[in-house]
Amino acid sequence: MECIVINGGRALQGRVAASGAKNSALAIMAATLLGSGEHRISGVPDLRDISTMKRLLEHLGVRITGSADLRLDATHIDIVDAPYELVRTMRASFLVLGPLLARFGNARVSLPGGCAIGLRPVDIHIKALEAMGARISIESGYVNAVCERMRGARILFDMPTVGGTENVMMAACLADGVTVIENAAREPEITDLAVALRSAGARISGDGTGTITIEGVRELAPIVHTVMPDRIEAGTLLIAGAITVGDVTVENCPVAYMGATLEKLRDIGCVVDESENCVRIRADRGLKPVEVTTSPYPGFPTDMQAQLMSLLTLAGGTSLIRETIFENRFIHVAELDRMGAHIRVERDCAVITGVEQLEGARVMASDLRASACLILAGLAAHGTTVVSRIYHLDRGYEALEEKLRRLGADIRREKET
Ligand code: EPZ
Repeated sequence: MECIVINGGRALQGRVAASGAKNSALAIMAATLLGSGEHRISGVPDLRDISTMKRLLEHLGVRITGSADLRLDATHIDIVDAPYELVRTMRASFLVLGPLLARFGNARVSLPGGCAIGLRPVDIHIKALEAMGARISIESGYVNAVCERMRGARILFDMPTVGGTENVMMAACLADGVTVIENAAREPEITDLAVALRSAGARISGDGTGTITIEGVRELAPIVHTVMPDRIEAGTLLIAGAITVGDVTVENCPVAYMGATLEKLRDIGCVVDESENCVRIRADRGLKPVEVTTSPYPGFPTDMQAQLMSLLTLAGGTSLIRETIFENRFIHVAELDRMGAHIRVERDCAVITGVEQLEGARVMASDLRASACLILAGLAAHGTTVVSRIYHLDRGYEALEEKLRRLGADIRREKET
């Protein structure tokens, strides 16, 4: 296994570009199952999760070439079975259910199971697909779904679910009639998926709002789309500039979708200048405490919670973070405390008392965003930090240590002894 070694205390300076959005690219890759022909997806980031999705699609029969610019030919789909071995390593694999069911009338997809941050059920996905006519049974950890032809339905989600909205939106593209999803998730990655589907002839409106309407069509042409930039990676890079008291400009930044993150950084006392697709951040040592509650878009994103916590460990006074999306997304707290942070967790809240300085330490990543949080803390800490189990990081960040090194960080990847 590999680890990341950081000698902290260096102020980051300069310009860096965000890569394509992981959570958009994964959904759009799954959507290629909806139509035969050669789909073209550009701006795909080089990530472990993307490789896993490629393996799953190839297992189903999709022929894939390219890397950042993918060509996916989904004409000959041989099987409609997504095995546990692949789905368990990446939950987004469950997004093949809707497309397979809509195009082929049946699918056998492993339940994704939970992960470090929570149970992450898929009951809302299943209930919605049943409302569209699917007959679904669960046997031995697999979802078995059959439906001659999906039919349009009015669907009301118990809560906004990103994956559920994506699965249903994709299935509805080929359904007979109109589907209306109410209480839909409004994340930008859903809008990006809708844009990609419309490039293939899908009839979708309302994406980005709480009510999405999809008029089914008989078949879709190939998708031609460039993936939007990753707002979570961009936010992570901005916090790297702030936590090191530096001056960093992030290019290829989806500014329009980062309002909650940028406003919170300003509340903390960072100087944040934004243009159409660039954000510059500067900070000094006088960071102020804030209260943050994670919530569905356009609220503060849960995927930025761990990274913001690193920054708040150095803010004067007491900050509070309330995590409302996932029930176990504070695993990084114990590791930050080992670096000298003062954080205590009370149910869904983390209470952070600012300290003068963090101390480098050996720490262990537990999940994707926790690994980024520990790297950010290491950049600011006095001394050396070693972050182990960085296979978590590689799932969702493209060459993060190289990007940080170009900004002046003393950071390297090593084989773990
Ligand atoms: C997506 O996960 C993202 N992943 C997550 O990013 C992100 O944290 C999450 O949305 C919330 O924004 C991808 O897009 C690949 P949800 P998803 O369904 O779709 C509950 C990262 O770090 N729920 O919106 O799985 C669920 O338990 C990852 O990049 C049900 O109860 O999230 C959670 O509490 C982590 N039943 C809430 O909804 C369901 O059927 C939101 O989950 C579905 C969800």
